[in-house]
Amino acid sequence: MGEGVLTSGLRRRAGELVCDEIPLTTIADVVGTPTYVYSAASVRAAYARLAAALEGTPTHIHFAMKANSNLALLQVVRECGAGVDVVSAGELHRARLAGFPGAQIVFAGVGKTRLDLEYALDADVQCVNVESEEELELLSEVASARGAVAPVSLRINPGVLNVTAGHAYIATGEEGSKFGIPIGRGLAAAQRAASLPGIALVGLDMHIGSQIAEVAAFADAQQRLRGLLNAVRDSGIDTVRIIDVGGGFPVAYSDFEPVADLEGFARVLRDTFGDAGVELIVEPGRFLVAEAGVLLTRVLYRKASGSKHFMIVDAGMNDLLRPSHYEAHHEIEAVLPTMAPLQTVDVVGPVCETGDFLALDRAMPDVGTGTLLAVRNAGAYGYVMSSTYNSRPRAAEVLVDGDRWGVVTVRETFDDLVRNEHLNPDWRST
Ligand code: LLP
Repeated sequence: MGEGVLTSGLRRRAGELVCDEIPLTTIADVVGTPTYVYSAASVRAAYARLAAALEGTPTHIHFAMKANSNLALLQVVRECGAGVDVVSAGELHRARLAGFPGAQIVFAGVGKTRLDLEYALDADVQCVNVESEEELELLSEVASARGAVAPVSLRINPGVLNVTAGHAYIATGEEGSKFGIPIGRGLAAAQRAASLPGIALVGLDMHIGSQIAEVAAFADAQQRLRGLLNAVRDSGIDTVRIIDVGGGFPVAYSDFEPVADLEGFARVLRDTFGDAGVELIVEPGRFLVAEAGVLLTRVLYRKASGSKHFMIVDAGMNDLLRPSHYEAHHEIEAVLPTMAPLQTVDVVGPVCETGDFLALDRAMPDVGTGTLLAVRNAGAYGYVMSSTYNSRPRAAEVLVDGDRWGVVTVRETFDDLVRNEHLNPDWRST
């Protein structure tokens, strides 16, 4: 990112990485490392970009909070005007704490429990995105038992092959995936929904995967969903008024990756559903928050082994799983300017796994012990996927807003690690 190009978010000021107006060194000195830092301004800017692209095609933006469920960050997203997409009762709990009303919440998820469905009804959510015909039957039973009517959107698997998803683990819209109701069963499921007590069929929904760079993949999937909407209406069901086309807008993690074609997406959405007489919803996760976040980590040691050079840092796969899990690329930069010569290194964490790395064979300035590094684009699927593996307390989270900053998640303590454990079990004999 060029110096001085942006006035908010992560940038270099006099050579030093700052987040909005705050030097990252200040945060690391006070809070320690590893620490996630998020720029509120950057979240707002991403939201504004998407909203601008969708102008003229009125569309609700529901943040897929699985990407980042920090309460303070959720509040920033809510203040932008977004709703939220939740996938568990736990996420619903967080969404309510962050101030989202039920009417701004869609409840998705492939394996909702009876309890999840009860929470969804208690919260009066905008709709439950039902992912299987058996879930539909259960929801009918749960809603009927309490004399309620559940607003239902059927999650349809359109059966498209998303060749552009960065990794097989984040493609969800092809035949044979566990997500949604196969489109071939869509009409039958809609008819069943229309006939069941306790169910109001209000929508159709899909999400074909993440990092979708090809607008053609969205177009293909949306045309299939439009075909289903027409078939449902032709069969005499006229209650469908919500079409949710999911998330998946890409973020460029390196200069070689494509950026989101939001205007192209909006054109497809308008062309496919503009005349359908429905409310449109999109569910971006990564796009709204990835670029807003960095993970701060310090170099602990360097060493060589065979032909390899290692930079051992204090953030591991338990803090940021994406490199290990998806072979995902994250840029890593020294926070302060450095004249150190480039060296090809593996940037690895302290966890006892060979797969514990943040970068492999990366040309990095050969900086020494104590150097503060920033792992870029870590605002999505970072902290939320972290664990305490190797009994490593989870990192702190910090929110920056212009010229102020504050800790929004305190670093876990050793006591936190064992909080739910009993040294002496509460033995039972039956
Ligand atoms: N809607 C549904 C139903 C989803 O399952 C997801 C993501 C989204 C929306 C948001 O997708 P996004 O706009 O963020 O691409 N942990 C992986 C990504 C898993 C995505 C799961 N579902 C990663 O770190 O790349």
